[in-house]
Amino acid sequence: MKNTVLITGVLGFVPSSLAIELLQKGYKVVGIDNFLTGSVRNIEAIKDHPDFFFERGDANRFDDLYPLFFDHSPDFVYHYAACVGVKRTLDNPLWVLEDIKGFEAILNLCKDFKVKKTFFSSSSEVYGEPVELPQVENTTPLNSKLPYAVVKNVGEVYFKTWHREYGLNYCIFRFFNTYGPNQSLDFVISKFMRQAILGEPITVYGDGSQTRTFCYIDDNVETTIKAMNHPLLHNEVVNIGSAVITTVLELAELIIRIADSNSEIIHLPPLEEGDMTRRQPANDLMLEVLGRKDLVSLEDGLKRTFAVLKDKLVQVEN
Ligand SMILES: NC(=O)c1ccc[n+]([C@@H]2O[C@H](COP(=O)([O-])OP(=O)(O)OC[C@H]3O[C@@H](n4cnc5c(N)ncnc54)[C@H](O)[C@@H]3O)[C@@H](O)[C@H]2O)c1
Repeated sequence: MKNTVLITGVLGFVPSSLAIELLQKGYKVVGIDNFLTGSVRNIEAIKDHPDFFFERGDANRFDDLYPLFFDHSPDFVYHYAACVGVKRTLDNPLWVLEDIKGFEAILNLCKDFKVKKTFFSSSSEVYGEPVELPQVENTTPLNSKLPYAVVKNVGEVYFKTWHREYGLNYCIFRFFNTYGPNQSLDFVISKFMRQAILGEPITVYGDGSQTRTFCYIDDNVETTIKAMNHPLLHNEVVNIGSAVITTVLELAELIIRIADSNSEIIHLPPLEEGDMTRRQPANDLMLEVLGRKDLVSLEDGLKRTFAVLKDKLVQVEN
């Protein structure tokens, strides 16, 4: 019999990419989303798949979740729904705190319906302002202060507690910047690509020397699927991200080259807040799980993203 996987936030970038891959691997996938930031475009390719079931609903509400557990009795649950986005979460801290209600609802249902393993999309944000680089899962102190980061931190504690109290298995993923074709256009890579494809100036805040790490979506999805059965990810926390540091200026130049674009780079005043934080995961555990020495390189990942995005953008812009 097919294993059934419940994914909350399934219309989102990372969750929909996971759903598509799971269906390809022969799982049955059940998804819920409240359309906060997700898009039905992300599930266009799977919406009519016979093993895909979608319900519109709030993943923080027990009453919306219960029928999904009752009807489908999932074997695995990926809790990815969250109020996301730097500006949105800073402007709407009460929305962010709502997500705490979801932890209790989903974990109690997982316990009652005897789910084999649960997964939680935490974030590099739990490390807060960096006290050391690279950031190591079980030794780097968590320095979260902003509501989004604190809620992710609280979520981690919930998953660990339901394991300790009820034996519910978990794996916590601390996602670092992830990118790929289905990402919304306000993220730096999709934004620069859109500008490059349309020949508009590429807008870099400050001198562009601020650094980032970028993880291609396929590496994220491959690791999170392996987490179902991998012994190293049994009741563990794992950083999911690339350790290769790139400056924003290098990123802009690379995108111009890949898109073969005439766009020029223009510099805007540095952002007042939120653009200074440096993050870099120690990703040895992720690489060991993948059985590889390297992740998809930024250049390869950007080429794959560009190949899809250029056609999508033409459709969206028209
Ligand atoms: N993409 C990244 O680089 C990154 C980094 C760190 C953490 N994360 C985490 O990974 C998860 C997925 O992120 P993403 O980048 O794909 O974002 P996304 O916005 O594309 O996906 C989140 C989805 O959750 C849905 N949602 C939000 N609140 C909901 C609710 N109460 N009920 C039902 N659905 C709800 C949204 O509509 C959206 O479809 C999130 O938990 C996010 O915090 C992502």
